[in-house]
Amino acid sequence: MIYLDHHATTPCDARVVETMLPWMTEKFGNPHSDHAMGREASEAIEQALQTIADVIEAPVDSLIVTSGATESNNLAIRGACLHPRQKKRHIVSVATEHPAVLDVLEDMRRDGFRVTLVSVGADGTVDLDHIARVIDDDTAMVSVMWANNEIGTINPIELIAELCHDRGVLLHSDATQTLGRIPVNVIGSDVDLTSFSAHKAYGPKGIGILVAGNGNRRVRLRPQIVGGGQQHNLRSGTLNPAAIIGMAKAFQLCKEELAASTDRINALRAQLWNKLSQKITGLTLNGPALDSSLRLPGNLNFSVPGIEGETWLVATDDVAFSTGSACSNTKAEPSHVLRAIGLNESLARQSVRFGIGRHNTEDEISLAVDRLVMSYEEISPGR
Ligand SMILES: Cc1ncc(COP(=O)(O)O)c(C=O)c1O
Repeated sequence: MIYLDHHATTPCDARVVETMLPWMTEKFGNPHSDHAMGREASEAIEQALQTIADVIEAPVDSLIVTSGATESNNLAIRGACLHPRQKKRHIVSVATEHPAVLDVLEDMRRDGFRVTLVSVGADGTVDLDHIARVIDDDTAMVSVMWANNEIGTINPIELIAELCHDRGVLLHSDATQTLGRIPVNVIGSDVDLTSFSAHKAYGPKGIGILVAGNGNRRVRLRPQIVGGGQQHNLRSGTLNPAAIIGMAKAFQLCKEELAASTDRINALRAQLWNKLSQKITGLTLNGPALDSSLRLPGNLNFSVPGIEGETWLVATDDVAFSTGSACSNTKAEPSHVLRAIGLNESLARQSVRFGIGRHNTEDEISLAVDRLVMSYEEISPGR
């Protein structure tokens, strides 16, 4: 199997697994216990959180450990907007957000909130003027993803933060797809609430971070999970030392290897796109230009004339890619992101997404192209 679906998840790096193992075997103490084993685990967690804070350039006391970006998004949006001292009832977000934001917003509507989704341009970039127009005196929060998981568009997050803060509104950003692909600086970007997930960054699944505050503004959260009072009562439950230590190692590797991996990964993407478009006529790129700084390294999304992405995917046993966001694959609808950038329903269904990662090689890409072309020829209508 050639794995080209790194926006869905990434393999846990062997160096990450190695740092995790002792914390699942001999060092199994509960980090909330007062005895030596507990204290050892608690100190290791503190160190790991400091590493994470350094990597994403955030204040360490703003970090809340969660089960992943879905929970981080829930805690950010529900937690901040439903805090008893927060009286405003309007949230602004974007049509191309991940379901881990859009579904929370749908739920907030049921709780009496007004939600406005702003539009994006043809390359998926959020329309800043539209955000400025729809913020009103009742707006509690703006939630805009840092980078899109389907078409790789990177949003101008510093500009959005400035716009929000000029109007006294909190900014939440889902930064799940950033780590390992682009530099992230939470304090420098002035985002108030930022969501991360370890399994998108060569770390373990089921663990993530919400950064609640960057030192500039007070962010009050109403906890969404109670019982035990861990993490200053903001998110109860026994912390998982192995997963947190693994996440820290994964984040650290992402930062250390970013510069060296970016050009390599983009060269592999160019190889995949150029070879496929030579062999299959009529492919059209979705999202920003491949050489644009607006696009995440390694991301490729295109439409294939005449066949459904899903049919191609099923016909290609030995290459892992995707027809859109993996999390929305249970829904039969075509990608809401592709629809939002203007593709009609059938073109959206004729689209596929690839995400190239740290471990992919030129040989793998050549083999993947052969296999993709072979399966395309088997199912293509002109055959
Ligand atoms: C942009 C984005 N947000 C949130 C999530 C959900 O992350 P997790 O699996 O950590 O809950 C994903 C995963 O696909 C994602 O790509």
